[in-house]
Amino acid sequence: MCLISNLVAATIILLPFATAITAPTLTGPAIPLGTGTYPRLTKLSDGSLLAIYTDSRSGNHTLGVSKSTNNGASFSPISIVDTGPSTSRDIDNGFLHQLPGGKVLAAFRNHNGPVGGPFTFYRITICISSDLGKSWTYLSTPAGDPQGPGGKTGIWEPFLEDALDGSLQLYYSRENNDDDQDSLLRRSKDGGATWTSAQTISGAELTNARDGMLGVARIAANSQSKLAVFESGVAGRFTIHTVRSDNDGLSWPVSSRSTVYEPPAGKSAGSPQIVRVGSRLVASFGTNEDGGVWPEGAMKVVVSEDQGRTWGAKTQIHPLPAMWSGMLEIDATSFWAVYETGGVSFAQKMRF
Ligand SMILES: *[C@@H]1O[C@H](CO)[C@@H](O)[C@H](O)[C@H]1NC(C)=O
Repeated sequence: MCLISNLVAATIILLPFATAITAPTLTGPAIPLGTGTYPRLTKLSDGSLLAIYTDSRSGNHTLGVSKSTNNGASFSPISIVDTGPSTSRDIDNGFLHQLPGGKVLAAFRNHNGPVGGPFTFYRITICISSDLGKSWTYLSTPAGDPQGPGGKTGIWEPFLEDALDGSLQLYYSRENNDDDQDSLLRRSKDGGATWTSAQTISGAELTNARDGMLGVARIAANSQSKLAVFESGVAGRFTIHTVRSDNDGLSWPVSSRSTVYEPPAGKSAGSPQIVRVGSRLVASFGTNEDGGVWPEGAMKVVVSEDQGRTWGAKTQIHPLPAMWSGMLEIDATSFWAVYETGGVSFAQKMRF
């Protein structure tokens, strides 16, 4: 009896106070960004919003750009970055980024070969706009790989971020073979015109994991510490992870690899992004845990209030189907969640 009482008392004392993580709520209607998929959104220094998406109508794959000058209440198409016949070119995975000087970059995958492959050459291309997205010219090809053995060495899903030293960082994913893909980083000191060789930031120690679809966020404003989020696929099942750098991307210790979200056994979560919203971090992903044939699923987010150590408050942004999630911080308590459903890309305002 005495022993049991002591155990009960000890259990009560040792239980930590569980502080519930705050979940964001949907605010207002989903706003159409454009006809197409893989949406990404960025804010320009004049306060307008630019969206990019892949339009596959008309027998071409086309990177469309739309703009909002009313804080996201509506978007209108303003330009295309590049277009090419779907039978001979695979143009997709657009990502927009305004340089500190005002010019806007569009990075994307730009492969030779029909959409869906096989591809004879893989590349990441960057185009530049000097008029806030109205027109685009070619700038550089930071990465290119010929078709390797078995049609591999694919490169995918560019993500651009300004480093604290004024240089530019390009994150993307590269296949080593069917079962092994790594996360890579290159740097530019001339606004994206020329690039360093690639540094592997996740997956170098693994040969059975497809790490891919990178996004990066600082854990606090101007912090040297940041998290790169990515999906990792092992034997066809995908889960969400981060690696962390505490020196603005110079090093990414293998020991920092940590799990953000793992769905129930047999289900997948993938296509993540990450954004800092005030003191919180938000990670988005698509998951088939409630239904859908992978990679089809619902878009959800999880929240961290301890700078990415733990995650919770899982919140659905849009039910099945909602594909290729992206996010953009609005202010310290709200953000845009973007996704494609039914062939149209949307932005959903979320608020804490
Ligand atoms: C398709 O792409 C080609 C090559 O860039 C271009 O000449 C053509 O106008 C495009 N067609 C459509 C319908 O966009």
